[in-house]
Amino acid sequence: VNHLLGIKYLKEKDIQLIFETADHFKEVINRPIKKVPSLRDITIANLFFENSTRTKLSFELAEKRLSADVINFSSGQSSVKKGETLIDTVNNILSMKVDMVVMRHPNPGAGIFLSKHVNASIVNAGDGAHEHPTQALLDSYSIREKLGDVKGKKVVIVGDILHSRVALSNIFALQLQGAEVMVCGPKTLLPKYIGELGVKVETNLRKALKWCDVANMLRVQNERMDISYFPSTREYTQQFGVNRELLESLEKEITIMHPGPINRGVEITSDVADSGQSIILDQVENGVAIRMAVIYLLASKIKQ
Ligand code: CP
Repeated sequence: VNHLLGIKYLKEKDIQLIFETADHFKEVINRPIKKVPSLRDITIANLFFENSTRTKLSFELAEKRLSADVINFSSGQSSVKKGETLIDTVNNILSMKVDMVVMRHPNPGAGIFLSKHVNASIVNAGDGAHEHPTQALLDSYSIREKLGDVKGKKVVIVGDILHSRVALSNIFALQLQGAEVMVCGPKTLLPKYIGELGVKVETNLRKALKWCDVANMLRVQNERMDISYFPSTREYTQQFGVNRELLESLEKEITIMHPGPINRGVEITSDVADSGQSIILDQVENGVAIRMAVIYLLASKIKQ
C-alpha cells in the first residue's frame, strides 16, 4: 500500500521497520550536515485544512532533510475559500507533477476518501477525531527510547478521548507492540465504543497513574467541545489534571507525555510539563526522524 492512512492498516513488522529507519535518520539529523540526497526526485505537497504547528513544520523539515521538493498549502489562504472541492484542489496540485500528499483535515476519513479518488501517495497528518498515525508512531518511538521497549509497558491515555485522533492511533499502535493500554477520563469524554477496543477504562486519575509506567496527557479539545460534555474547566483540572503534588504522592516515577499543544494548568501543570519526568520535547524531536522514515519508505515504493 502506498499510503499511511492510519495505524489500523499497519502490522507490527511495519512499525518495527519504521522505527529502524527512524533510528538511522535520527543519527543523520544529529550530524553537522543534517540532509541526505535520497528523495531529490520526489515532490511532496503538504495540505493543511486545519491548524498545526508541530505536525506541519515537522513534515516539512523531514521532507527537506530528505532533499524532496516541497510545496505547502493552507486552506485558509487558498481557493477552497472560493468553493473548490477537495478532489479538484488535490488533482490541480497533482497536475504540477507532485508525487505525495501529506494532509491534515477536520473530517474523519478525509485521507481514505482522497486515496480512492486521486493518483498519489497519501499520508494522513490527522483527520478529525479519527487517526493521527505519525503522532502515535513518534509517541511509541519515544517510549521505546526512554524505557527500552514498548512491549509489556503499561500506558494510560488521559483526558478527552472522545475527540482525540491521538488516542485512537496510540491505542492501535501500543496494542500492536504488546503494551497494556488504559484510558482515563470523565465518562462524558469517553466514546461509546471504547469497550470494543480492548483497553482498560478508569475514571479515577490517581488509580490510573498508580497503575501505569507512562501517562500520555491529552489536550482538552475545546474547539470540538459541546458545553454539555463536561461542566467546567476547573472541575476537569481538579479531577483529571496532573500536577507535581499528585505525581509525588505516587511514590514511583512515571514518564509523562503530551502530544501538544498544551493547555498549561488545565491537563498538566508547568512544573510537570517542564520537569525531568516529561519527554514532551523528545516527542517533538523524534517526530522529524519518524516522518523522514515514513516518507522515505513510501517514496521507495513510488520509485519501484
Ligand atoms: N501534536 C500535534 O498534532 O500538534 P499540532 O496540532 O501543532 O500539529
